[in-house]
Amino acid sequence: MNLRVPFATLDCASPIWTASGTFGYGREFAPYFDLARLGAIATKGISPEARAGNPVPRICETASGMINSIGLENVGAESFGRDKLPFLRQSGTNVIVNFFGETFDEYVACAASLDALDGVAALEMNVSCPNVKKGGVEFGVIPAVLTELTRACRSVTKRPLLVKLTPNTGDIVALARAAVAGGADGLSVINTVSAMAIDARRRRPRIATTYGGLSGPAIKPIALRMVHQVHTALPEVPISGIGGIASGEDVVEFLLAGATTVQIGTLSFSEPSAAARILDELSAFMEQERISDVRELIGALVVPAGC
Ligand SMILES: Cc1cc2nc3c(=O)[nH]c(=O)nc-3n(C[C@H](O)[C@H](O)[C@H](O)COP(=O)(O)O)c2cc1C
Repeated sequence: MNLRVPFATLDCASPIWTASGTFGYGREFAPYFDLARLGAIATKGISPEARAGNPVPRICETASGMINSIGLENVGAESFGRDKLPFLRQSGTNVIVNFFGETFDEYVACAASLDALDGVAALEMNVSCPNVKKGGVEFGVIPAVLTELTRACRSVTKRPLLVKLTPNTGDIVALARAAVAGGADGLSVINTVSAMAIDARRRRPRIATTYGGLSGPAIKPIALRMVHQVHTALPEVPISGIGGIASGEDVVEFLLAGATTVQIGTLSFSEPSAAARILDELSAFMEQERISDVRELIGALVVPAGC
């Protein structure tokens, strides 16, 4: 049975990746399963300088999901290269470095410094960050800004550049087209959905920043719809599907909708070996359905006429 998939120029041992911010810097999860089974690890989002993140509480549980407002806490690009990358480099999987900046120039500087590091397979640009100069609107929601930012980062790296789309938009296809126009080699679909939770007795928001990002099974149907819309509009562009994946069958659904790979996110917090279990379930599904090559599933959704 073949589980290998190509993604842009990457050769992935399986379509299962782990999602940024939910899998630390990889090492934390090495005791639970062989990381080489993964197609890739997307690291915690890296910024040019280290960041302490937002005040607590910055996580809260919701029905079928959680809201987080971690504030992109990370060790910064220099420490990442020195202290975290050496382990990841020998883990046997592709290392995809998720990155961001607070300004346009910071994004570009971060992409350039990460490009110089040995052992980085690809970069994944997180555009769900507030653009302070544009009134705090996320970088990724205005198509023209997204194209310009992608183009600028594209010009400073030789590695495949993935753009991770925000779902906080009325038109995901416009954002996908904007990223591809700027030179994106692949798209990660989706980041967290803007949300809030309220403590009725205390009459206060449940997280310190009032709003945060919703993740987990609650967002899976939104993510599936967006993956399908993007794949239908841009069938040549590889997509990594993300959002509430919890089983092998969930993976198959994302592949059918048009994803080439998927990323396991929030679930790894409660079940650190989830990615390995899900990969086993995917293999079992393929065996039962007599599918010899996982690539057969990509974009193979049948939409009956009239739907
Ligand atoms: C605690 C937490 C931290 C996250 N940090 C990042 C990050 O640094 N960069 C990023 O692009 N996405 C980040 N994400 C978003 C996830 O990578 C993923 O897109 C999202 O959680 C949806 O997938 P899931 O429902 O499987 O968790 C974070 C999510 C969570 C829950």
